[in-house]
Amino acid sequence: MRKIYIFDTTLRDGEQSPGVNLNMQEKVEIALQLEKLGVDRIEAGFPAASPGDLAGVRAVAEAVRNASVIGLSRSRQPDIDAAYEALKAAQDPCLHLFLATSPIHRQHKLRMDKAKVLETAEAAIRYAKKYFSKIEFSPEDAGRTELDFLCEVTAMAIRAGATVVNIPDTVGYMTPAEFGNIFKVLKENVPGIENIQLSAHCHDDLGMATANALAAIMNGADQIEGTINGIGERAGNTALEEVAMALETRQDLYQAKTTLNLSEIARTSRLVSKLTGMVVPGNKAIVGANAFAHESGIHQDGMLKEKSTYEIMSPETIGLKESKLVLGKHSGSHAFREKLVDLGYELNDEQLKEAFGKFKDLADKKKDVTDDDIRALVEEKLVRT
Ligand code: KIV
Ligand code: ZN
Repeated sequence: MRKIYIFDTTLRDGEQSPGVNLNMQEKVEIALQLEKLGVDRIEAGFPAASPGDLAGVRAVAEAVRNASVIGLSRSRQPDIDAAYEALKAAQDPCLHLFLATSPIHRQHKLRMDKAKVLETAEAAIRYAKKYFSKIEFSPEDAGRTELDFLCEVTAMAIRAGATVVNIPDTVGYMTPAEFGNIFKVLKENVPGIENIQLSAHCHDDLGMATANALAAIMNGADQIEGTINGIGERAGNTALEEVAMALETRQDLYQAKTTLNLSEIARTSRLVSKLTGMVVPGNKAIVGANAFAHESGIHQDGMLKEKSTYEIMSPETIGLKESKLVLGKHSGSHAFREKLVDLGYELNDEQLKEAFGKFKDLADKKKDVTDDDIRALVEEKLVRT
């Protein structure tokens, strides 16, 4: 089974979510939890962005021992110097250099032609080599870059000494077929590609970040970048827990897996949500409050008979205790009876029938029927009989 490396950028791209600002202690707390989760690489920040970010990256570099620690840098010397300062203490440091390559970015943002882009990136990689043995290079907006130019940029990065080339779909514009094809073309056409790792970095503007990351894996990507809970710039990044669980659940299809400690997923998700203040939507895949909750009577009946009828993975795998059967107006008598047993009631068939009728009346009026509601309903019934 092929290993997929996990590059977590919760502390960098994730922190670029509007309204999120992590202090040094919070960065270290999240980094240590990411280490427990078993991510291979932690992008801790962008040291040249501010003195606070440099200090945050340095603190993470000092604290983390079992994952590579990475700092982001534009393709310019002062940024690379700042990243070196921040990462000096890391056990396994890596520099993440980027420069935009798409026509839109070349023309409007960088005002550079193709030759200048190649020259600037190459100079940056060669300069960084004096500090770092591990360098990742990202052609920013690779998704909207001409494929032949992307091959040229990748070949240059390999020659200059990059150890990972990351393909960012910076604006979340790609579809899975298109994004997967980029990896196929790079693998087939770039000399020396077998000597480096190829990475995918997707954004979720069209809701396809996870699908695009999986398409990249199908086409030979070695590493996936993303964040916990999918937080990040605009609509966010690939949610790493989704990629990890897709690989785990569909090993038959992907023939690849991460080395994450999956049972740390729920704890990591809760910590990131708490410290960033970004609430996880109830219906979020894998880590949303409803991801393992069942309300309909038909589903609850199936679950009580055999869990695989309505669950493709078990909540225990990600570190949750159990699935939830939520009582509401769609629930049936099977789940209601189980709930009564859980709450310590033994009702005969007639009492059960009457209580269930009352429960249905209540559920029609109230969105969430709580344990206390059920107790009140049953106590009233028992007192009267
Ligand atoms: O989305 C992006 O292009 C980035 C790069 C810095 C890799 O985050
Ligand atoms: Zn990004």
